[in-house]
Amino acid sequence: MNRKQLIKKYIEFFKSKDHKEIQNASLIPENDPTVLFTTAGMHPLVPFLLGEKHPQGKRLVNIQRCIRTVDIGEVGDIKHHTFFEQMGNWSIGDYGKTDAIKYTFEFLTASLKIPLNKLAASIFEGNSTSPKDKESYSILLELGLPEERIAILDKNENWWGPAGKTGPCGPDSEIFYWISEKPVPKTFDYKNENWMELGNNVFMEYNKDSKGNLLPLKQKNVDYGGGFERMLAILEGHNDNYMTEAFKQIIQKIEQLSNKKYEDYKKEMRIIADHIKAATFIIADGIIPGNSEQGYVVRRLIRRAIKFKKELEIKESISKIAKPIFKIYNDYKHLEKNKKQILKELKQEEDKFEKTLEKGLKIFEKITKNKKEISCKDAFLLYQSYGFPIEMTIELAKEQKIKVDETGFKKECKSHEELSRTASAGKFKSGLADNSEQTKKLHTACHMLNEALRVILKNPDIHQKGSNITPERLRFDFNFDRKLTDEEKQKIEDLVNKKIQEKIPIEMEEMPLDKAQKSGAQGIFDDKYKEKVKVYSIGNFSKEICAGPHAKNTSELETFKIKKEESSSAGVRRIKAILK
Ligand code: SER
Repeated sequence: MNRKQLIKKYIEFFKSKDHKEIQNASLIPENDPTVLFTTAGMHPLVPFLLGEKHPQGKRLVNIQRCIRTVDIGEVGDIKHHTFFEQMGNWSIGDYGKTDAIKYTFEFLTASLKIPLNKLAASIFEGNSTSPKDKESYSILLELGLPEERIAILDKNENWWGPAGKTGPCGPDSEIFYWISEKPVPKTFDYKNENWMELGNNVFMEYNKDSKGNLLPLKQKNVDYGGGFERMLAILEGHNDNYMTEAFKQIIQKIEQLSNKKYEDYKKEMRIIADHIKAATFIIADGIIPGNSEQGYVVRRLIRRAIKFKKELEIKESISKIAKPIFKIYNDYKHLEKNKKQILKELKQEEDKFEKTLEKGLKIFEKITKNKKEISCKDAFLLYQSYGFPIEMTIELAKEQKIKVDETGFKKECKSHEELSRTASAGKFKSGLADNSEQTKKLHTACHMLNEALRVILKNPDIHQKGSNITPERLRFDFNFDRKLTDEEKQKIEDLVNKKIQEKIPIEMEEMPLDKAQKSGAQGIFDDKYKEKVKVYSIGNFSKEICAGPHAKNTSELETFKIKKEESSSAGVRRIKAILK
């Protein structure tokens, strides 16, 4: 079975169980305050898991492109990636554990014909906050798994989420497959690497708040997530994700350019293939390599790939390695559409790094000669003058069993006001959209700002290019090619504040996408799956397609204040604003 057939099979299976296919969303989360990337299919669904009504109903399915950089150190083995596709199906307050597990098993054993004898599962053993998951245990037995193949494990193993500090979470039941040629052991041992996790049903019944309390959700949800590349490997009969259709052509390209065999350089080739693929997809979603946030992640991925490329003595550009990615993923239309730009960015970043890399490596050798630790000053020198991401310095140092003064480095950055560059790396660990009253208000303020910009700058072609909300502030990107004057900023503020004072109720209506478009609503219209969308209106002032949630009335917003207006990238400006 090939990649496209597997996608089709999965989606069709869940459609036959009354699920609606939802969009494979951008890797850059919309209106999600504290995460840099979409790390699981559930990210774009957070508001709905917390209780918002989803316009497409309570049963959803998709394949979602994801970036998880927490696993970057694991990349190099058979099954870890920074970019991967996730198979996801959801019950948004609809079916429960029994049906979820039945669907998972039916898909695996009946639809994909995976022998039951090669499967095992785990369930949550219970603790003081959440009881033992007896329901999942019984259904697994009923489906034919023997007791010895069901592990009952603690919170470290069988609890998922929240993805960050706050958000939906709950106990989960995981499913495993025996990947080895050796006979399947009678008893399941989750520590045995030959049992590979295929996916998990997370029973999202709690919301963790910022104080760490687990609050029961209004509704019980199920969030299934499965590793697409792993499944493909099993179906294609490979014991290595990098041998599947999702990677093969990239690996072959690397073999060809390096004149070396995959057999001899598995780790290096896997890292290069993975990182270039991730960088390609992130750039395709509108990010360019840079020194902060997502841009810094792309930079790190590209630079790390270049380091390994050097080890394989590849002379040609990484953009050559990226080419097969467009063939493998030709179902992602935005990839092909932005191909030229993506290849250009990869090449440019490489050229930039090449200029300093050789020199930097020489300096590195000098610095480390007869030393046990790299000082913060030297690490900072490598970073600032030679463009070495700190992670790369650490990695190089590790190879020589040398330590790096990381704490000192961070302090050094801070004193150079460069903290944002490194702090971004830590952001993956923080929280998801929290749906708090304050973020709802700021979200409404984003819609008002969006409209105010068009009115005051007298330009109907201004649109949102991105946004990010934390409980403290909103950040809004829009297309415009010059700095705003103080007078313009004042007028924008005044208009938003006028609308706040008018105490306008915010209304939501569901309608088909084309109707929303005809009504003049702002939003993205190339979404082929949306039969029904939510449109939020603020009187006659603003109308936008949006998932919500929002404030109920503009009066809740009090006072709107612009704190900063700056360039974000070519032709894109960025406003940071607060509510007082
Ligand atoms: N959110 C869970 C995961 O990513 C299940 O989808 O594993």
